[in-house]
Amino acid sequence: MNDLIQISLADRQALNAIDTLERNCFPGHCYPDFFFRQALDCWPNGFLVAKDEENNILGYLLASSSDDPSVVWILSIAVADSARGKGVGTKLISQFLTTLPQGVNQVNLTVAPDNPAKALYSRIGFVEIGFESDYFGDNEPRLLMSYHKSSDS
Ligand SMILES: CC(C)(COP(=O)(O)OP(=O)(O)OC[C@H]1O[C@@H](n2cnc3c(N)ncnc32)[C@H](O)[C@@H]1OP(=O)(O)O)[C@@H](O)C(=O)NCCC(=O)NCCS
Repeated sequence: MNDLIQISLADRQALNAIDTLERNCFPGHCYPDFFFRQALDCWPNGFLVAKDEENNILGYLLASSSDDPSVVWILSIAVADSARGKGVGTKLISQFLTTLPQGVNQVNLTVAPDNPAKALYSRIGFVEIGFESDYFGDNEPRLLMSYHKSSDS
């Protein structure tokens, strides 16, 4: 399946499908549709979608720049329930990491300590660098994980 998945930059036509995916993947705690519209203008090169051979959107990754030009943040990644465990998330992150702009050498993200996505990030090379017990408010702890680009990659 992995070979049939294409990763490309998100565009306006993809936004409805991304919004649906978001609401399904993060019920009650998701980004609103208008945020994605503005993300497209703010970080067009950090907004990736994974499509199957019929152009269905199976997942997305959204990353933003930060005040530090050497550091970017993965704000969100989600893969449709029916497509999980088949390498789509790995492919989205791997493609993002191999196309980091010149001068970017660190990628940060947060993840709930009990989210199985943590194992995926570790496998790819992210390491834990911090923890906040109330990152998103009461009972919303998050681990801060970071990927450091090696000088030869
Ligand atoms: C996290 C997520 C993007 C991973 O996408 P994916 O396409 O299933 O990932 P891959 O197939 O490339 O990798 C699977 C790995 O992800 C982890 N994983 C997380 N959730 C999983 C799920 N529901 N099913 C299977 N694997 C899952 C496992 O550690 C697995 O590792 P393994 O292959 O060594 O067993 C996807 O599970 C998802 O959208 N989850 C809901 C939203 C979410 O929690 N996003 C992350 C917020 S920090």
